[in-house]
Amino acid sequence: VHGGLGSAHGKAILMGEHSVVYGAPAVALPLLDLQTAASVREANHGSISSDLYTGPLHAAPRELKPVVTALRATAERVGLNSDSFEIVISSTVPLERGLGSSAAVAAAMVRAVSNAVGVALTPEETFELVQIAENVAHGTSSGLDAHAVRSLSPVRFQSGQPTPVTVARSLTFVIADTGTSGSTSAAVNGVRMLRKVNPSFVNGIIDTLAGLAEDTITALGAGDAAALGQHMSAGHEQLARLGVSAPSLDALVTAARMSGAHGAKLTGSGLGGCVLALVDGADSADGVIDAMKAAGATQAWKTSLVSSQIA
Ligand code: PMV
Repeated sequence: VHGGLGSAHGKAILMGEHSVVYGAPAVALPLLDLQTAASVREANHGSISSDLYTGPLHAAPRELKPVVTALRATAERVGLNSDSFEIVISSTVPLERGLGSSAAVAAAMVRAVSNAVGVALTPEETFELVQIAENVAHGTSSGLDAHAVRSLSPVRFQSGQPTPVTVARSLTFVIADTGTSGSTSAAVNGVRMLRKVNPSFVNGIIDTLAGLAEDTITALGAGDAAALGQHMSAGHEQLARLGVSAPSLDALVTAARMSGAHGAKLTGSGLGGCVLALVDGADSADGVIDAMKAAGATQAWKTSLVSSQIA
């Protein structure tokens, strides 16, 4: 084993969470300020080192089961004995906030392990190995996160197919954390149950969200921040009707809109986690950040979709 390194980044879903599970398109943004790194070094027993836990693989806590399962599968794929190395993970992607931490850790790990033995995996193979972790973490997963944490441009995702999205100009977003974590599987199951009870209601919302995802792509391509913000706020309303918002999320969306954001919505599976707001340039971000903190955000920060990310 030679030292292998791998990295990935966080993501935010701009439109289409939940509806993507039913075949509608979704759009995710890369969050390049939030990075996850993994490195592999030779050791005499399989072990993992991270903020959550440091010790032997077999004694890793439940939270690490997704990455440990994917780690063993990756080692097997590249012909490495998973008891012959230590994997060291460091990440600035907040955990369980809908920002892609589990997929980012898995993607960084897959790259580190394959680099350690010099085996080049195809994007499809890497995706499948990251999906092993995502499926252990969330039951079943659309695959959006697994693509978004490796893509440097915004990505459109539908029925397993990722496509880069063109963005006409740089945009500034604010991400605000409610400080609570929503369970992705609880949110996804809640929508599935509601759809069983009331299919026409839920299918109508899925169709509306599908239209909003296409409108979002159009607004990104035209650089129309006002339209994009309106689509985001409309998307939040639809997600609330699906039952995946929460009072803490609604309060942050309202605060963002009242303080001059173009629009705002929950991002990720909901029930907790984060709100994504589109602001009118970096200068107006501070007022929106203050308003969202006053409305209960435990953390809020700005992030840009800059020209280097433009496809
Ligand atoms: O909780 P997150 O950010 O990983 O988002 C899950 C996105 C869903 O659409 C709710 C589920 C999925 O598998 O796409």
